[in-house]
Amino acid sequence: MKTVLVTGGAGFIGSNFVRYLHHERPDYRVIVLDALTYAGNLDNLPPAVRESKQFEFWHGNVTNGEIVNTLVARSDVVVHFAAESHVARSIFDNRIFFETDVVGTHVVANAVLKAADKVERFIHISTSEVYGTALESPMTEEHPLNPTTPYAAAKTGADRLVYSYWQTYGIPAVIIRPFNQYGPHQHLEKVVPRFITSGLCGSPLTVHGDGASSRDWGFVGDTCEAIDKAIHVPLERVVGQAINLGTGRDVAVRDLATMLINRLGVSPSCIQRVSDRPGQVDRHIGSTQKAKALLDWEPTTSLEDGLDITIDWYSRNRDWWRTQQWMKLVPVRTREGCIEYH
Ligand SMILES: NC(=O)c1ccc[n+]([C@@H]2O[C@H](COP(=O)([O-])OP(=O)(O)OC[C@H]3O[C@@H](n4cnc5c(N)ncnc54)[C@H](O)[C@@H]3O)[C@@H](O)[C@H]2O)c1
Repeated sequence: MKTVLVTGGAGFIGSNFVRYLHHERPDYRVIVLDALTYAGNLDNLPPAVRESKQFEFWHGNVTNGEIVNTLVARSDVVVHFAAESHVARSIFDNRIFFETDVVGTHVVANAVLKAADKVERFIHISTSEVYGTALESPMTEEHPLNPTTPYAAAKTGADRLVYSYWQTYGIPAVIIRPFNQYGPHQHLEKVVPRFITSGLCGSPLTVHGDGASSRDWGFVGDTCEAIDKAIHVPLERVVGQAINLGTGRDVAVRDLATMLINRLGVSPSCIQRVSDRPGQVDRHIGSTQKAKALLDWEPTTSLEDGLDITIDWYSRNRDWWRTQQWMKLVPVRTREGCIEYH
């Protein structure tokens, strides 16, 4: 039996991962530390998890060394998801991105170092955004780090901070870089649930620029499986490594919108264009080779199947997202100094 500390476990990927552990590792104790920002929601964790004797929830901030040191010292494994995670929000108002994503990761990494006798593994959840636009296809972990937005820059700082702590102090760190995620329980500010819920409400699906920018879309259930593998494969195979979680397929945002309206049965006229987002990444497509070699993992959910599962979840859980509708659009400051809603 292991004790796993999950920071950000009330958010989208974190809560999917806590549910995954509850089903797949029922003997594990799970501790969630979450500040419950606008993106965190205890309802993301079902009563069966919240009421389990194996589960503890701590309301607190990853920048608070007292609480982080206390919880890390009790944990065999730390999975660090907590972050400000929305690219568009980081354009206008980004101080908190550096506080949470960089300083918060510093606090967690220091706590792991202090608890060296106890912590077996530290899984840091980074992102493909560290790479910027694809200079090669598919993008390997050797791709240059060219973050193009404040969110991406903060996550790159955190990613390299964790790497340096492995190099300098030998902490048992593994850096995971998921490409664009989607699935149940994702906040409406993110593009897949924004498109789905707009389609369900008969509102426009707004596409930035010409919609040609493409992403490698990963289903969250597959990602939880990969993170579980990163915890359980032999440490010497993965320690100090950065590992992409991609699918090797990219789909343009305008094509994603078309796939969704076809599934939802709404008119193509619902797709509307707005100006492009500053710092936009043109293309993301992840290599799957390293994850296959080190984690023995490949995604198994096709984009078509993953979108069907996700549409079904948002159709059946309107109460979960109704109150988030006003947060779908985020104010962005353009280079010309205008405020636009994206
Ligand atoms: N969503 C994606 O497409 C994607 C892709 C690649 C990587 N990631 C990374 O995965 C992680 C999880 O992303 P997500 O989409 O689930 O994010 P999310 O925004 O849905 O959830 C973030 C969670 O962290 C919590 N949190 C925020 N600040 C905190 C703080 N200071 N202290 C404690 N808790 C705090 C929030 O309350 C929330 O529960 C992030 O590190 C993100 O950068 C996300």
